Amino acid sequence: MTWTLPPGCGFQEAYELRLDRDAGTVLRTGRVQGPDHVLVAWPGEPLISRERVTVRVRVWSAGAEEPSAWSEPSVVEAGLLEPAHWQAVPVGADWDEDPQAERRPARVRKDFRLDRPVAHARLYVSAHGLYEVEINGRRVGDEALAPGWTVYPHRLRYRTHDVTGHLAQGANTIGAWLGDGWYRGVYGFDGGTRNIYGTDQSLIAQLEVVYDDGTTLVLATDGTWTAGPGPILTSGLYAGETYDARLHDPDWSTPSHADSADWTPVRTHTRDPATLVAPSGPPVRCTEEVPPATVTRLDDGRHLLDFGQNLVGRLRLTVDGPEGAKITIRHAEVLQGGELATRPLREASATDTLILSGQGPLTWEPRFTLHGFRYAEITGWPGKMTPDSVTARVYHTDMRRTGWFECSNPLINRLHENVVWSMRGNFVDIPTDCPQRDERLGWTGDLQVFAPTASYLYDCVGMLDSWLTDVALEQLPDGTIPWYVPVIPGEPMWTPIQPGAAWGDVATLTPWTLYQRFGDPGLLRRHYPMAKAWVDLVERLAGPSRLWDTGFQLGDWLDPAAPPDDPAAGRTDRYLVATAYFAHSAHHLALTAAELGEARDAEHYRVLAQETADAFRRRYVTASGHMTSDSPTAYALALAFGLLTQQQRQAAGDRLAQLVLDDDARIATGFVGTPLICDALTESGHLDVAYRLLTQTECPSWLYPVTMGATTIWERWDSMRPDGTLNPGGMTSFNHYALGAVADWLHRVVGGITATAPGYREVALRPRPGGGITWARTRHDTPYGTVSLAWETTDSGLTVHAEVPEGCRATAELPGCPPVLLGPGHHVLDSTELAARAA
Ligand code: BGC
Repeated sequence: MTWTLPPGCGFQEAYELRLDRDAGTVLRTGRVQGPDHVLVAWPGEPLISRERVTVRVRVWSAGAEEPSAWSEPSVVEAGLLEPAHWQAVPVGADWDEDPQAERRPARVRKDFRLDRPVAHARLYVSAHGLYEVEINGRRVGDEALAPGWTVYPHRLRYRTHDVTGHLAQGANTIGAWLGDGWYRGVYGFDGGTRNIYGTDQSLIAQLEVVYDDGTTLVLATDGTWTAGPGPILTSGLYAGETYDARLHDPDWSTPSHADSADWTPVRTHTRDPATLVAPSGPPVRCTEEVPPATVTRLDDGRHLLDFGQNLVGRLRLTVDGPEGAKITIRHAEVLQGGELATRPLREASATDTLILSGQGPLTWEPRFTLHGFRYAEITGWPGKMTPDSVTARVYHTDMRRTGWFECSNPLINRLHENVVWSMRGNFVDIPTDCPQRDERLGWTGDLQVFAPTASYLYDCVGMLDSWLTDVALEQLPDGTIPWYVPVIPGEPMWTPIQPGAAWGDVATLTPWTLYQRFGDPGLLRRHYPMAKAWVDLVERLAGPSRLWDTGFQLGDWLDPAAPPDDPAAGRTDRYLVATAYFAHSAHHLALTAAELGEARDAEHYRVLAQETADAFRRRYVTASGHMTSDSPTAYALALAFGLLTQQQRQAAGDRLAQLVLDDDARIATGFVGTPLICDALTESGHLDVAYRLLTQTECPSWLYPVTMGATTIWERWDSMRPDGTLNPGGMTSFNHYALGAVADWLHRVVGGITATAPGYREVALRPRPGGGITWARTRHDTPYGTVSLAWETTDSGLTVHAEVPEGCRATAELPGCPPVLLGPGHHVLDSTELAARAA
């Protein structure tokens, strides 16, 4: 276990860490190593289940005679760390169900008595399927779609809740709503797969009560619980939910519930408690409520709502009406001809239905589904819909926002905002490709290209570390990384699983990216075996030629030149892409190995990377520096991955710039080339051309969707065509973050903040103005504190305001000026002055 020392513990300071454990106070003293951000390893004995430790820190500043006061205590409480400490078994309904058909979700519950006052109580909880727990009629926690999606046979996350305040002396009731979720619901494209992990739907819960006299009570799910049908009639992540309010007994999870014959003893199931793990990231929660921007009543009585923002979540309705009245909500990202355009949803019906009880006003929101939408159509609304009767609730993994960017061009600001919204819509427990159609899968390539952007915008390290753990679990014995994780076993289109460049490279590149951004070497270490197995596989596939030129590849997926029905048929040789990625991954694996002190591996992969780059040049680059595939993606790869000789670089950069200009700076790259092209142009001396690409508004371009009113990043440049019609291809999502990976370039090059040592303990402040932009500001909350940079153009140069946190140092490099070293604090720099001083 590690802790980060509080901000302010910077260079050359000593600290004392005081850990109060039951076993006694442990004091640790140390010295902060230079500019290293200190992570203090757990001293001595490992934590034991349920243990509470109080941590305080005090700091001895350089030269000070007295230490600082002890910091505010933080309390760390361990979960259930030993499998033997789990008594709970999965419990669910015991009625007959057809496992191949839609099944009505169950609720489970248990009445119990507490005969003494309670000191404190914890609930450890998970499920096969999804759950929401109530105790005595009150919801426990506020997370949605718990326990999220992991490779359940190996890892099922449980959460710990402090439920002391939910309990009462005397009679109590605990109950849980259950949903199918990923465990047994229908998931995956082409009709999907049912029962991916099992046919049961069950709760795993352990309530541990400590009375004020120190005695304890453990109440775990077992055969004494009962199950009954609830008011949810059907529920699916893609399909939506149907709820019959007439069937809801508001007392169902309180001791005053009526006894009914519907409630029968549960059936118990099995779960190896060794697979129950604590989460490493925050849960999915509602993070924002968005009121409708407009509500239109159509002639036939339907209501069409526009929320003004393409988002991911669900509607909450407050409605009153006659018993049995049926309200149906359909969702879509765009309209066509004034109606919801649902074709892009493919087989996801994304429809929620509420049947009213006639018992007065009701506030309702579906529980176990999410939709990607900007528009909703509501049929059957009784009476008049008032503006506050419907709210869109936005859901995603509740990560801390850490990155911001803004500049003088409002279209670029909207583009950036769209990237943020696409990240929010697709960081829903796992990083998904899209949130609306019958897919929503953890596509590895999408995340691989987007991770640098994501890790600037949000603290997503816990969530991605968890997902990478699953990527490693799904890695095949030969090293193959699946296209998406978790894998849906038996999905015909992607079976057998084959290795693919750019997608599989998530194994090497993403741990490295996260290490650079968050500075945790433990993460690098954890995913090292996966990274190695991936590169070793590609090394075998390529053989002595070092060219990976066999097998299935997606290439530069969704190159705009590819036909709508064959997005892999781009203009760049797919084996060129594969070999470039092989060299790039081998290079990053060598860096990883060196960082981890694996010297022999570091040398092996360094040589491998070099040999692969040599082979790449021999096969795909002419002596003069032109690529055999004369496409922007080919040049972008060769330049951005550093695969060319110095001499070839210039020629390749010039040719890339020419290709871009020949196309009038419209995008001619897909998933692989798009994230790299601006860097390739910038670093080969064509910053102006990179800005031409960025500021182009004709299709295909980053700003074209913005001019079409986009509020998220689209999967295709022309998901909607200039005439307002939808792209006819099967991949027409309006919420796909991959092409938004350009935001990383906005942060680093336009804004000017780049991490040059892990965790931003060293930063380059290197803004590169252009494109008619007169000011820009960006800010990132690093593990050390906030780094910010704001620049504006002056008559003769630039003025820069920069902020560098404690424990971190920066090098400012303004255009035309020599580098300046900056320590912690606020700095104002003027490029005209700096240049004059240097002259
Ligand atoms: C997904 C992509 C993914 C691709 C690869 C699509 O269906 O939406 O984003 O990377 O398939 O084939």
